[in-house]
Amino acid sequence: MKRTIRDLKNIGGNKVLLRCDFNVPLDKYGDILDATRILTSLPTIRYLNEQNCKLIICSHLGRPKGYDKYLSLFPVAVCLMKYFPNKVRFCPKVTGPVVEKYIDEMKNGDILVLENLRFDPREEENDPSFVKELASYCDVYVDDAFGVAHRKHASNYGVALKKPNAIGFLIEKELKVFEKAFQNPKKPFVAIFGGAKVKDKLLLIKNIIGKADTVLIGGGMAYTFLLAEGINIGKSIVDLDLVDEAKKILSDAKNANMKVLLPVDHVALKGEKVVKTNFLDADMVGLDIGKKTAKMFTEEIKKAGQIVWNGPLGKYEDKRFKNGTLQVAKAVAKSSAYSIVGGGDSVGAINTLGFADKIDHLSTGGGASMKLMEGKTLPAVEVIDTL
Ligand code: 3PG
Repeated sequence: MKRTIRDLKNIGGNKVLLRCDFNVPLDKYGDILDATRILTSLPTIRYLNEQNCKLIICSHLGRPKGYDKYLSLFPVAVCLMKYFPNKVRFCPKVTGPVVEKYIDEMKNGDILVLENLRFDPREEENDPSFVKELASYCDVYVDDAFGVAHRKHASNYGVALKKPNAIGFLIEKELKVFEKAFQNPKKPFVAIFGGAKVKDKLLLIKNIIGKADTVLIGGGMAYTFLLAEGINIGKSIVDLDLVDEAKKILSDAKNANMKVLLPVDHVALKGEKVVKTNFLDADMVGLDIGKKTAKMFTEEIKKAGQIVWNGPLGKYEDKRFKNGTLQVAKAVAKSSAYSIVGGGDSVGAINTLGFADKIDHLSTGGGASMKLMEGKTLPAVEVIDTL
């Protein structure tokens, strides 16, 4: 069991470095479009603040190449000021004398938000000199940045090796949810997989064989499976190198008694025209599951005890091809099954379609949740001490 912040005793007065994932979407004025990642970090921030320590919070935001004023963490600090009035200060640097000065000025119970870690290229390189500087700011290190836990960066890996450490409540919850769902699933366990590229989802599907009862496959990845079944897919997206692998997965699933359902009809483009069809002609590109498939998937979802969903069922960002994802989202939202949605695109789809509050667990990590669903461990969690 990993050490959590509950296990850190007598940290009042200590300097605690907290790594969060505040990689939130911003508009062109720097306003936060979706604060979910800040809100889900609040329990850990609140708990540490109540311990009366000096809390230094760091995060990345976006993928800047050097300084970029549009990716400053200032709006995040402003958002936190609402929740912790008169306690939060923003430091416009990540390392160096300015940071040292801001930390020196901290009193117990103060919160300091550092500038975007990725403004310094040494962060992603897990550079020892950057690790050393970050580690010098704190007595204790806490990681609650689930979204980036599949990465091995200075602030979420290197520093943890240098200091007494623990995970926060957000990481603890994410780990528990995925562990329970895959080791002790409520039955029937229905998994829904979509997204454009089959290669991104192969490990995930392989890991679920023998655990799930039913797998529903849609999105661009379905066409490689359909081709593996000998079905015409027209000009739809396909990974020809993975057709044999898809065949093997279908046969392994059958041997494991796991039902795999593929689309039986489609919404496709024929030239510029949108067509609804059971068969994809040579000149058609399938871009969404059709109504019959949506109904078939809905029936399976109704029977589920647990649902795990990763990836949209069609090109949902184009309104002509969003119906499949919408119908499946509705069915998951209505279902009384325990539901988990993981993966950036599927979480985005649920949010856009307005069903977020109907899902039991909406993961805050895209890549990180995928790794857990693939049965892998997360380096940033591995590096935290066990009890
Ligand atoms: C995410 O949004 O998935 C995380 O914040 C990780 O971001 P990254 O893919 O840029 O490392």
